[in-house]
Amino acid sequence: MNKVTVSTPGKLMLFGEHAVVYGHPCIVTAVDQRIRLAAEVLDSPDFILEAGDVEVTNYTKQISELGQGDVPKGAQFVEIALKNIYEKFDLGEGLRITTASEFSSKFGFGSSSAITVCVVKALSELFDLKLDNKEIFDSAYKTVLDIQGKGSGFDVAAGIYGGCLYFVTGGKVIEPLIIKELPLIVGYSGVKADTVTLMNQVKAKASKYPEFIDVLYTEVSKLVEKAKSALLVNDLISFGELMNFNQGLLESMGVSIAKLSAMIYGARDEGAYGAKLSGAGGGDCMIAIAPKDKIAAVQQGITRSGGQVIEVQTNVEGVRIEK
Ligand code: MEV
Repeated sequence: MNKVTVSTPGKLMLFGEHAVVYGHPCIVTAVDQRIRLAAEVLDSPDFILEAGDVEVTNYTKQISELGQGDVPKGAQFVEIALKNIYEKFDLGEGLRITTASEFSSKFGFGSSSAITVCVVKALSELFDLKLDNKEIFDSAYKTVLDIQGKGSGFDVAAGIYGGCLYFVTGGKVIEPLIIKELPLIVGYSGVKADTVTLMNQVKAKASKYPEFIDVLYTEVSKLVEKAKSALLVNDLISFGELMNFNQGLLESMGVSIAKLSAMIYGARDEGAYGAKLSGAGGGDCMIAIAPKDKIAAVQQGITRSGGQVIEVQTNVEGVRIEK
């Protein structure tokens, strides 16, 4: 094989953000907005990247120089993922990679981790490395840590396994939650958040007030367990109520912002069972769960509060080879 196209879904954190970085569990779902990556083996020993949606065009370097010199932000995850796999499996072939995303990298759907998963899966296929899902996880997670320094890896797992997952830091537990559907309402705040900055803010707070932040993490863990049980029996009322608790704890960690909170109240005021921010906070998206007959009103509540409703399907298939 000398050509392959793969795609990986984006993700939305349902419960447990921040606490999951410190050994606690979370629940995440894969969403139907996907990143596509085409990889083609070249005769020359070059790495060529076309990633128009992150403003990288005709980026070229020698395979032997992967990871060296200045790497533009938009090329980082692809290049370091390649370098890690090439080194591990002693590969040398040139490669052209083209990527395209169905969603804006602003939304916080996890474009960096999804692209990393695409690279590892594509190389596994192209060079017959026969990596299983856990090996793909370990390799993609290493790349994310090489670049970001920290992170739980929940987004990497969602991209690989798809569906809804109960996940513990670093992939210690990756448990698919078998559910029929999860009709989530998603609102984008219009504010771009930087996950690493937010993680550092929470870490700084934890050094100053360890006794409070530890309690918050422990309570988040309990909420995750309850939310998992509610989800498995399709008890969306409890699932929503637990979201509200989780939002309160995230407010205490200091990661919500006025805009997100306004959208969350906008959703609750229109009859949502519950609403919370999703991900690092500081911007990006909020999510809500509502009875079917209230969905339109809840969407309007979010729009009225200045948010942009994004239509997504949840619980979708993980990384796959495209025909
Ligand atoms: C960011 O989407 C969620 C965090 O928990 C970071 C992570 O788990 O890697 C803040």
